[in-house]
Amino acid sequence: MAEASAVACSNIALVKYWGKSERGDNLTAVPSLSLTLDALRTTTRVRFDGALLQDRVILDGVRQDGRAHARVVRVLDALRKLAGVSLRAEVRTQNDFPTASGLASSASGFAALALAADGALGLGLSRAEVSAVARRASASAARSLFGGFVELGREADHAAPVAASDELDLRMVIAATTLSPKPVGSTEGMLHTAATSPYYPIWIRESQDCFEAGKQALLTGDFQGLGLAMERSTWLMHASMLAARPALFYWNAATWRVIERVHALRQSGVAAFYTMDAGPHVKILVRRAEFATVRDGIAGVPGVERVIASGPGPGAWLL
Ligand code: PMV
Repeated sequence: MAEASAVACSNIALVKYWGKSERGDNLTAVPSLSLTLDALRTTTRVRFDGALLQDRVILDGVRQDGRAHARVVRVLDALRKLAGVSLRAEVRTQNDFPTASGLASSASGFAALALAADGALGLGLSRAEVSAVARRASASAARSLFGGFVELGREADHAAPVAASDELDLRMVIAATTLSPKPVGSTEGMLHTAATSPYYPIWIRESQDCFEAGKQALLTGDFQGLGLAMERSTWLMHASMLAARPALFYWNAATWRVIERVHALRQSGVAAFYTMDAGPHVKILVRRAEFATVRDGIAGVPGVERVIASGPGPGAWLL
């Protein structure tokens, strides 16, 4: 019997990934840039056991089957193959935030799974190799192996940390507007967008520029430039979904109210920028000095059920 546990923090894309490469292998069609968040964590224990006849997956206390189970098995299979073993495993995983609702639980989940399974099998893969294993299950998970600011290049095998300027002392304030699971998963959503949206090729073309602007801003400590690149990437990505047939949108009324509040804060001189993923929550990027103003400013917006505040988090680690 061999077991190991790992913790991974989730990450939020500042410059978004939406679309798979035609080369397959879950490679991404666009580059992305993210911030790993300390406040959103997944803890996963993997135990290989000769007595098990099949892999068992328990997420937040609930036994998983179907697609969720199959995705975990794929990661285990890849690592079993490398280790040359056929032992089945029990995977117990716990999120300290709502699962599958646009808070990037697949990012932290698959990062923690890949690292814990690597540890349990004693493979000793490099960080980059574990990132590549996680990427095949969920591309955003590749980024959670690393802390702080992280990039995943277009069609890149694994993610890598970005040496951002120390001047960027940033926080993220998350306005969680509903706690129900999302209706359309991100893989399904991006395939639908690619297949039916006339704006998808434009999104693909523009995303390279958003990435370069965002990365340059990170390297030079330009908060305003980073915030504007993030919003541009967000709107381009969501515009491509809105033009899909049928249209795909993940927001609710409270999402818009939070966006309006951020615009109002900005007009009053508070530098704050927002982004949304495949869910209705709004994630707001702020400097540390203005963090409390923004947190308090959105807490009272009708429909905001919970405000989660986070600083940059570390890369995934073994317990
Ligand atoms: O990694 P996935 O397949 O869950 O897709 C993530 C997609 C977005 O969260 C919308 C954007 C991103 O880059 O994280």
